Amino acid sequence: MERLQKVIAHAGIASRRRAEQLILEGKVKVNGKIVKELGTKVGDHDQVEVEGIPLEREEPVYLLLYKPTGVISAVKDDKGRKVVTDFFPYIKQRIYPVGRLDYDTSGLLLLTNDGEFANSLMHPRYEIEKTYVAKVKGIPLREKVKQLERGIHLEDGKTAPAAVKVLSIDKKKQTSIVEMKIREGRNRQVRRMLEAIGHPVLKLKRERYAFLDLKGLSTGDSRELSPHEVKQLRALAQHGSHVK
Ligand code: URA
Repeated sequence: MERLQKVIAHAGIASRRRAEQLILEGKVKVNGKIVKELGTKVGDHDQVEVEGIPLEREEPVYLLLYKPTGVISAVKDDKGRKVVTDFFPYIKQRIYPVGRLDYDTSGLLLLTNDGEFANSLMHPRYEIEKTYVAKVKGIPLREKVKQLERGIHLEDGKTAPAAVKVLSIDKKKQTSIVEMKIREGRNRQVRRMLEAIGHPVLKLKRERYAFLDLKGLSTGDSRELSPHEVKQLRALAQHGSHVK
């Protein structure tokens, strides 16, 4: 069940504000009856009419993209750069990304047209565990790794504890591969955390989002989530997931 103004806005008829006005003005009917309460909730089977015209509801769609680098996590870009929705020309619904990956970060990104689903996944309280693999400059000492695990002070506050593993080191090139699991989703967080301990990121990829991974996909590939996966994600967003 969703709030009536949200359903109207989501169908693309009006902004949320305008939808609220339409409701208050008595121009919206649910199952043939005028509804003037803004809080009214409607389900998939309720018939909504706006100014006498039945609402076409979009089918919800849930997609997983292996985002390449050099692509913006948005639905359009002023500078005409490639955006993540360009990978779905056959999807008629107005999809958008669930959170963001930087232009120069590759990896797993979800897209949907289901606002409630997207919001619940991004809710700071229950943020989903995300696994990143970074190639960094230098070879982090144990103490530096511990700092990341405990949480470090960035300009926007202390980070929550992260699970960190140094997967490999290249002594000759003086680079390392570091895995980081975090639940927050601050802007350029992984890059900033690694920079803060003196190991700037050379390359960054999101390998997992909760239980989802990129197995079987190449960069630029995508697939639909199964109904079971959507259900599992909803459950995680309700109960929270934890860094182990
Ligand atoms: N952290 C970053 O630094 N960049 C991303 O794209 C995602 C997380």
